[in-house]
Amino acid sequence: GEDGYKLWLKYEPVTEPSIKAEYLKYVAFISESDHGEIMHNAVQELQTGLKSLLGKNISVSKAVENKSGGIVLRLDPKADTKQQEGYRIQLTAGNIVVSSKSENGILYGTFALLRHMQMQLSVKNLKMESSPKIRYRMLNHWDNPDGTIERGYAGSSLWKWYELPERVDPRYQDYARANASVGINGTVLNNVNASARFMSQEYIVKVAAVAKVMRRYGIKTYLSVYFAAPKTLGGLQTSDPLDPKVRAWWKEKVAQIYKEIPDFGGFLVKANSEGEPGPQDYGRTHADGANMLAEAFQPYEGVVIWRAFVYKADPNADRFKAAYEEFVPLDGKFDPKVIVQVKNGPIDFQPREPFSPLFGNMPKTPLGVEFQLTQEYLGFATHAVYEAPIFKENLDSDTYVNGKGSTVAKVVDGSLQGYMRTLMAGVANIGNARNWTGHPLAQANWYAFGRLSWDHTLSSEQIAKEWTELTLTRNKKAQENIVGLMLRSREIYVDYNTPLGLSRPWMGVHFAPEPWQNKGSRPDWTAVYYHRADSAGLGFDRTASGSNALAQYRPEVRQQWNDPDKTPLPYLLWFHHVGWNKKLSSGRTLWEELCTHFYTGADSVVWMQQQWDLAKPALDSQVYTDVAERLKIQRREAVWWRDAWVLYLQTFAKKPIPKGFEPPK
Ligand code: GCU
Repeated sequence: GEDGYKLWLKYEPVTEPSIKAEYLKYVAFISESDHGEIMHNAVQELQTGLKSLLGKNISVSKAVENKSGGIVLRLDPKADTKQQEGYRIQLTAGNIVVSSKSENGILYGTFALLRHMQMQLSVKNLKMESSPKIRYRMLNHWDNPDGTIERGYAGSSLWKWYELPERVDPRYQDYARANASVGINGTVLNNVNASARFMSQEYIVKVAAVAKVMRRYGIKTYLSVYFAAPKTLGGLQTSDPLDPKVRAWWKEKVAQIYKEIPDFGGFLVKANSEGEPGPQDYGRTHADGANMLAEAFQPYEGVVIWRAFVYKADPNADRFKAAYEEFVPLDGKFDPKVIVQVKNGPIDFQPREPFSPLFGNMPKTPLGVEFQLTQEYLGFATHAVYEAPIFKENLDSDTYVNGKGSTVAKVVDGSLQGYMRTLMAGVANIGNARNWTGHPLAQANWYAFGRLSWDHTLSSEQIAKEWTELTLTRNKKAQENIVGLMLRSREIYVDYNTPLGLSRPWMGVHFAPEPWQNKGSRPDWTAVYYHRADSAGLGFDRTASGSNALAQYRPEVRQQWNDPDKTPLPYLLWFHHVGWNKKLSSGRTLWEELCTHFYTGADSVVWMQQQWDLAKPALDSQVYTDVAERLKIQRREAVWWRDAWVLYLQTFAKKPIPKGFEPPK
């Protein structure tokens, strides 16, 4: 049985005879021009990979001289790649040559070559050149020092703080290798709701032991920080960012970290959000707080990543608008070492959100995008939701800030507004589950995030095909079934969970349907705040007659969403309060349309089960069963979701279930 531990790095033997013959022309030796740690790992990866793919033990030789018939890893400061970390792979003088300006690039090129070979593609006219479009490609772990993971559904934390620094779990290396194989070059080890403990010497040396493993795979280690640490840990009277003692404390702290971790990546900060401390506690701004930390990083390469996930503003107003209101006025005020990290949508990782209006509206501040891989709002580890379409939908959205074609991708990759530091972050879906992600298909979300952080022009389909071939099966028919299932999975989930632009029908654990939930410590911590169901209709009016959040977008965007008759149905209830009887562009009334989505969504899980079953003969039995059983849960829960919504909304709409759909039991 396949336990999923190897992820997409299975290196199953090449079975195509003609392809195998091609590959065998290049196994005489592996040559490396230099011998850094990362390069060393690239060589080892090739040896392991080719041993498994071709059954050959390949030895390493230092100099190529006039030899041919091997694989040459060539570190070349003048290599012809766009970026430092880019690579080029081509046939030269009878060798496969992987070249890059950096060891990282060699490692990425090596994984690209091995991926090519795992997919049994020809090397006859091999020529591949690729450079990352984003500089900081990172995972954010929401892991706590006690081993729990906030919003984690795949076991507990990988990081065994109680064993470190002496015992370094071998799994850290497997983790680093998996990340490097998809191009990820940074990891934040701890939760954004950060414990000050990570700033203690005791923990810094633990983090250093992990960082040492990461470094060998070109990955920098970062920490989330607790803004009030000067007070709680340092014993100061205040954590005011303008206080000289506080500034000195952070400078010393950062110096202390660099003593142990010379390539430390930097800090990630959640401040003045959901009860976390921050500069506003002292009447200072986000920029004051971020710049103080940036100052502490001046002597080093590290950066400060400041999150824009805030909604402190009037809870009776529209939370949608809060981040824009707090951050746009600060554009131009941040130190160049600061990157502001923005969630893809204005609320919070909902199954479908419009893009955050911050994108494009802070031309002087590098904005990174934050996606969520862990399925906090996507059915945890029991629902299959392939997330690449969520990431792509966001990246491909047009902000129109510099005219047509000003996509979020172009904002984030710096090409639109000239950002020097570009960032894409994914909130990790990884825990210590044997298969890393709990749901076997959730591995694809980690994979897709990495691939897109490297190259956001890849399509969801391309990535799904690649992942399926590498991870699950080489059988083409089965691949079609699985890729089909993956590509539709997000829309199916949206249909039974939050169709037509509904959002946040849960509180607390974010799983059980609770659209009726109307009590919370603040109005925007209730479910009814978001959907606004009443006897007249459903949805949040964000036009000028409502909260006017639409005014935060450019006129071209506003135009798409301003008129309830023209708003695409997937976004309808994000922007309009729509009458139950209103006829929609589909020809159905709102009530009929909602029911159609809830019912077809829940029924489509049966279709997913069928697709999966069709692939069964081509799948490992353990993986087959694991997913099949999770799909059964998903089916049951989809019906639960549908019925909860339909029965609840029916109390307002006061209409029968449309013909053809059975009433909820
Ligand atoms: C969500 C999530 C929290 C998390 C927060 C954040 O609200 O439920 O657990 O801390 O996002 O991103 O900071």
